[in-house]
Amino acid sequence: MKNLLGLAVVGVMLAGANAYAEDAASAPAVGDAKAGAAKAPMCAGCHGVDGNSVSDAFPSLAGRSAGYLAKQLKDFRAGVRVDPTMNGMASTLTDADIVNLAAYFSGNIPKGSAAVADEETLEKGRKIYLGGDRKRGVSACMSCHGPAGHGIPPRFPKIGGQHGAYIQKQLLAFRDDARTNDSGIMTSIAERMTLGDVKAVSQYIAGLR
Ligand code: HEC
Ligand code: HEC
Repeated sequence: MKNLLGLAVVGVMLAGANAYAEDAASAPAVGDAKAGAAKAPMCAGCHGVDGNSVSDAFPSLAGRSAGYLAKQLKDFRAGVRVDPTMNGMASTLTDADIVNLAAYFSGNIPKGSAAVADEETLEKGRKIYLGGDRKRGVSACMSCHGPAGHGIPPRFPKIGGQHGAYIQKQLLAFRDDARTNDSGIMTSIAERMTLGDVKAVSQYIAGLR
């Protein structure tokens, strides 16, 4: 009886992990970075040849975990994450293309970004990032994204060194329920944040290494 219960608990844990992580049946878990590199030129115009984008309108992909990148591409393809450009791009990709591209970009070295804000704003962002805002019930970003924004793969993405404008756009999208592919985690955090909080923490994150 005890053993059965133990097995049931493990089963539930595994089912939970699988539901989020990969669609293991339809794609190999580990991508082929070389094959991904061959496809990557179709992404280069916006995300940069190696996934370091020079424009803050486009997120950098270099050094983000393969699991996170693959999830986003699948979500774009399924229309669960909405962006007209990326929904179109992802619709042309097979499951193999997705894991291969994810392997390629995740293997590249991120160049980082830079904060564009005064000291006071960055200090405000730092406080929210490291400690949250107890009064409003905002959790510390650090607890899932790590003290330096490196994330905890594959579930919690690396955000440190991402362009501030992109981070801000995502936080506002979560806040306004325009991005809802996060199992309710980020939407419930972002809806408690003011525009000032969002701006400050976005710039703080851009400056993380
Ligand atoms: C014409 C420009 C353009 C091209 C080409 C393009 N993307 Fe994007 N991509 C974007 C934009 C804009 C976003 C941000 C969407 C948003 O704001 O949610 C994005 C977001 C992403 C994200 C989500 C990043 C994150 O941190 O969540 C991934 C992954 C991605 N693109 C991968 C790719 C891949 C792989 C290719 C090539 C097959 C590609 N993109 C081609 C414009 C482009
Ligand atoms: C309980 C865990 C948790 C906490 C706390 C948390 N996040 Fe997240 N965050 C996530 C998860 C999970 C995702 C990925 C959602 C998905 O799969 O699309 C995410 C995604 C993001 C993204 C989108 C990244 C991208 O590349 O598009 C940003 C930006 C972000 N979080 C910022 C923050 C900030 C700022 C805070 C603190 C105010 C914070 N997060 C707190 C779990 C968390």
